[in-house]
Amino acid sequence: MDLPQEFRRRVRCDSAASRPQFTNSPTVIVMVGLPARGKTYISKKLTRYLNWIGVTTSVFNLGHYRREAVQYKNYEFFLPDNEEAMKIRRECASHALKDIASYFSKEQGQVAVFDATNTTRERRAIILSFAKEKGYKVFFVESICDDLNIVEENIMQVKVSSPDYVNADKEEVMEDFHKRIECYNQSYVPIDDVKDKNLSYIKIFNVGSRYLVNRVQDHIQSRIVYYLMNIHVTPRSIYLSRHGESELNLTGRIGGDSKLAPRGQEYARVLGRFMKDQTIKDLKVWTSHMRRTIQTAEALGVPYEQWKALNEIDAGVCEEMTYEEIQDTHPEEFAMRDQDKYRYRYPKGESYEDLVHRLEPVIMELERQENVLVICHQAVMRCLLAYFLDKNAGELPYLKCPLHTVLKLTPVAYGCQVESFFLNVEAVNTHRERPANVDVDRAPDEALVTVPDHL
Ligand SMILES: *[C@@H]1O[C@H](CO)[C@@H](O)[C@H](O)[C@H]1NC(C)=O
Ligand SMILES: *[C@@H]1O[C@H](CO)[C@@H](O)[C@H](O)[C@H]1NC(C)=O
Ligand SMILES: *[C@@H]1O[C@H](CO)[C@@H](O)[C@H](O)[C@H]1NC(C)=O
Repeated sequence: MDLPQEFRRRVRCDSAASRPQFTNSPTVIVMVGLPARGKTYISKKLTRYLNWIGVTTSVFNLGHYRREAVQYKNYEFFLPDNEEAMKIRRECASHALKDIASYFSKEQGQVAVFDATNTTRERRAIILSFAKEKGYKVFFVESICDDLNIVEENIMQVKVSSPDYVNADKEEVMEDFHKRIECYNQSYVPIDDVKDKNLSYIKIFNVGSRYLVNRVQDHIQSRIVYYLMNIHVTPRSIYLSRHGESELNLTGRIGGDSKLAPRGQEYARVLGRFMKDQTIKDLKVWTSHMRRTIQTAEALGVPYEQWKALNEIDAGVCEEMTYEEIQDTHPEEFAMRDQDKYRYRYPKGESYEDLVHRLEPVIMELERQENVLVICHQAVMRCLLAYFLDKNAGELPYLKCPLHTVLKLTPVAYGCQVESFFLNVEAVNTHRERPANVDVDRAPDEALVTVPDHL
């Protein structure tokens, strides 16, 4: 079926209009807090989240600028009366602000996260006047932590491996770092409830045991606040798996709501044993509303929760077709999907971009929870994985999520460790690479060259 031009155009426009209009003036998120209060952790994690939901965001870390300018020796660099160092630090800060301005004006940046201590009122005033002059919004995120165990833990986890301390031993690092904190502590003026009452900010106390939120100005700031109030640092793992091989997978048909094929049922049993061996207490199991994920979860013999949001991408008019049939009946659609797989929306169906928006509440709940096994689908798993591994819209639709394979994600320092377990139950390959030729008038064999084998 060839869609009339009108229809196709409407599909495209809808797609653009469905993208949320977050903010028309760029936002600078200004981190505030003593060293080792998790500012870099928050900056990176928040940036990853914002990029995933489609808000172009980047971190500007003052430490990087400082390391470009001078080689670090010891804490004396940060002494408040070290005039020479103070001059370098001011220059680094102004360099970072210049880069933020050019990120907004030249690189379509929407949010910049300024990761620095910003512990004095003067420093924050400089940022505020810079932003006012340029017409940027400012939102402060202050991390306050007086639980010294948390601080020690943070130094051990991330500072010991900092480029500042390449050849130092742990003891030296601890000592130097504590002195560094002391340098800032002398002049630290937290954001003040009264004096700063006109500013927009969130204060996070002891990694989330309490929050104080002031003057949220717009939608994006409210999303940021909501996100920051949902994340936690309790160690845990998230397990991602697709359903067992389904009847339609065997015949290379996409979508549909088929049952598990025999090897898929076998996988479900093996997955149950695998999860039991992981000996996780309080494991939550989530499925979609589709039969193949529910059947997979049933074999585990534990309670599970069904999420409609986890349903597979809706292939619209192409549901239950093979790629060969799609090429045969909708060759232009097939090519357009290869041209921009992330934004391409199936007629009367969804795009990966739509899927990301549908999955946002799932990500938020995954952040709140501890150990979870998510039994989902290929496109859904790619979206979830892209969030955890910080993959961009170009890479996302091609992430490898084979059948009968569990991915175990464990947060470490600033990122996420991935372990992949193939559970030794054979399955068809359902991964189709982007072919070399994506032109609408390509020959059928060029369009089908990367289609995996099936019955
Ligand atoms: C910072 O200084 C205050 C008082 O000046 C002191 O009570 C506090 O323990 C110091 N904190 C750190 C982390 O050194
Ligand atoms: C807050 O803003 C109001 C209105 O713009 C202004 O009158 C007031 O002086 C400001 N207060 C502070 C503490 O800056
Ligand atoms: C595998 O089958 C399911 C339907 O049972 C479908 O959602 C998925 O797209 C299939 N993958 C491929 C590429 O065959």
